[in-house]
Amino acid sequence: MVFWVSCAIIGVLVLLIIAWGWRASWRLRVNRSIILERERLLQGHNPGLRPREDQPVLLETFRKDYLIRAEGFLDDSTLKTFRQECSDNMPRIVRGFVPTHKQGGTLSYETLHHHAVNCLSLYHSERMLNWVSDIVGVRVYPAGDHDQSACSILYYTQEGDYINWHVDPNFYHGRQFTVLIVLINRSENGGLSASNLMRKRPDGGEEVVFAGENDLVLFEGTRIWHKVSPVKAGDVRVILSMTFNTDRKISLFWELARRAKDTAFYGLRVLWD
Ligand SMILES: [Fe+2]
Repeated sequence: MVFWVSCAIIGVLVLLIIAWGWRASWRLRVNRSIILERERLLQGHNPGLRPREDQPVLLETFRKDYLIRAEGFLDDSTLKTFRQECSDNMPRIVRGFVPTHKQGGTLSYETLHHHAVNCLSLYHSERMLNWVSDIVGVRVYPAGDHDQSACSILYYTQEGDYINWHVDPNFYHGRQFTVLIVLINRSENGGLSASNLMRKRPDGGEEVVFAGENDLVLFEGTRIWHKVSPVKAGDVRVILSMTFNTDRKISLFWELARRAKDTAFYGLRVLWD
């Protein structure tokens, strides 16, 4: 009797794993209807970047450190529009909590297609893709359409929201780069929030990567250990997070691994979605 029950449980588990793999491979081939509409959605949205002349310095810094900061990245009207979009979407935030690793809210890539088209338009703009490609010295592209963390908005808005030390996992074939733009970074009293992006130096020491409002940080997250220290009560820190890849291809095995990682941000739903 025990033998047959065990066989039945194992059989059900095998079927579930097969169904999971089939669903994921189908998602890799067939885009959601909203993704197919992206070109139409983005028409007329032209995010503005401030003119800058520090490209040669940034390029050289990235070559040495795999991390650069660019202050005052967006023009004033674009920053204002992005901030408004972030505030309007507060009710749609999905909160995630993984003990000892992270706590915070996220707006997924798919939700951006529905409700934050201005922020989304920056991720797909030729100007942005060219700017990142020039700094990192290799052509980059948006991550896969099935990837809910390809472009997302991160909200550190409740006391203790943070993410602990990690390197960014890369499930794609090529290199991967992370861009963070600080849209809102304020404390209750009007100064900056208590939260900081931090990195580990090659010598093992830790340092703050200062990022005020409208500052951009571009880094190769697979090489650099980094974290975001906790916000205090009343702090609001909202980040536009974008990942760029040199190769958008991903194997089914790594797609399943990527989904497992994304449960920390969007819950168990992303395993199947
Ligand atoms: Fe990260």
